Amino acid sequence: MLLRDKVAFVSGAAHGIGLATATTFAEHGAAVAMADVDRATLQAARAGLLEKMPHARLLTLECDVRNAASVRSAFRQVFQEFRRLDVLVANAGILGDALIGMVSEEQMKAVFETNVYGVLHCAQYASRLMARGRAGSIIAISSIFGTNGEAGQSVYGGSKAAVLGIVKSLAKELADGNIRVNAIAPGFIDTRMARSVPPDKFEQRLASIAMGRIGRPEEVASVALFLACDLSAYVTGQTIGVDGGMLV
Ligand code: NAI
Repeated sequence: MLLRDKVAFVSGAAHGIGLATATTFAEHGAAVAMADVDRATLQAARAGLLEKMPHARLLTLECDVRNAASVRSAFRQVFQEFRRLDVLVANAGILGDALIGMVSEEQMKAVFETNVYGVLHCAQYASRLMARGRAGSIIAISSIFGTNGEAGQSVYGGSKAAVLGIVKSLAKELADGNIRVNAIAPGFIDTRMARSVPPDKFEQRLASIAMGRIGRPEEVASVALFLACDLSAYVTGQTIGVDGGMLV
């Protein structure tokens, strides 16, 4: 019960890494605000969690992280319901796999609005709530393509590198309010997003992983748990890779 009496907000909580993180946090006693743009899947995810954990405190929020007003409204609901916020996991993200000669303006915009503006919007409202309690942990989900780059990832990798810049600056800005800010850089994790990669690329990515297997969403969630709780009380401004020794 590492998060007993804590309140966490997880964006992109309907699927994959976000859902695994919401699950792990609820298992550790947190009340979890699960935010996602996909309302139907979010409701199904909540129902599934309540079946396993009937006493879990879950709030589902239909929220589009690209839109500041939508994010503001979601955080307002969190405050109305729980009166506090201890942890943010800015996880919602989309892929934008395309060679630079092929990538469209719409794709660039969608990826940066979701992956970069989305993190900024959530961090802005979360940090205001955390400042009231003079403590908090913000965790942003970046990517190994943000730390190391990859062919075909100038847009997505660029957006994930921006997340690392945001994390480093916020860590400095918010440290005196006892708000820690860290990033996780997953490698190749078995979610809907990873399964959307064409079969030849899927095999190529698998072959680049020293541990010889794709990661599980729960393996990212457990690192998020470490960063969320007091076990990491003196850790801020860091990026933790969760990639099984993936080389890109
Ligand atoms: P996923 O596609 O399974 O889940 C992403 C979730 O974000 C979905 O529930 C989706 O509805 C939600 N979402 C998308 N746009 C949104 C928006 N505008 N507002 C609110 N919610 C929105 O993807 P996965 O794999 O779980 O990815 C989670 C994070 O991890 C993403 O930021 C992704 O870039 C990152 N990541 C994933 C890796 C992987 O191999 N799966 C590797 C490295 C990073």
